[in-house]
Amino acid sequence: MALRIGVLASGRGSNLQAIIDAVERNELSAVIAVIVSNNKGAQALERARGHGIKASFVNPKDFPSREEYEREVVGILKENGVNLVVLAGYMLIAGRPLLDAFKKRIINIHPALLPSFPGLHAQRQAIMYGVKFSGCTVHFVDEHLDGGPIILQSVVPVLDGDDEESLSQRILVEEHKLLVSVLKLLSEDKVKVSGRIVRIL
Ligand code: GRF
Repeated sequence: MALRIGVLASGRGSNLQAIIDAVERNELSAVIAVIVSNNKGAQALERARGHGIKASFVNPKDFPSREEYEREVVGILKENGVNLVVLAGYMLIAGRPLLDAFKKRIINIHPALLPSFPGLHAQRQAIMYGVKFSGCTVHFVDEHLDGGPIILQSVVPVLDGDDEESLSQRILVEEHKLLVSVLKLLSEDKVKVSGRIVRIL
């Protein structure tokens, strides 16, 4: 199946940029169909528009409930023929409407080696805990926060003197590569999920 990617992003959008670059360089065979953000000022929206990609801001405050907001987002993704949703720095938790509309077709990038350090400030959590290695994880999204089946991970050392900022930077470089690697595998239909276990063909 040719990938038609919909990206949900709330902020800077450097992971979105990695996908855009991979597509533009023909390293990834996919179409980025639409970007949706819950944040009007998200740099991700500007990045998308700068590359001629459709970008929508949907304000959660315009809807009576989170579910209704999400139904609107799902509508936009469906209208644009999206068959894979990428959460790339999307700061809201995926709820029922999204999970039901895209079963096993939503992936997320998380800046730690899950199941360690789920949730916010994963890099800070890693520094505070004193781990010697951290990294990033791309996983399928299910109803558990950062808890779905793991597709690929990259390991990054934590160096003496690292702070949240320096570790985040080192991890981010790997995030960009890892996300594109997973998308390539998905575009080649090489990712098989059975329960929690993901096999790469
Ligand atoms: C990344 O560290 C990602 O792992 C996390 O949020 C950050 C988003 O960065 N989920 P960006 O918006 O892609 O630059």
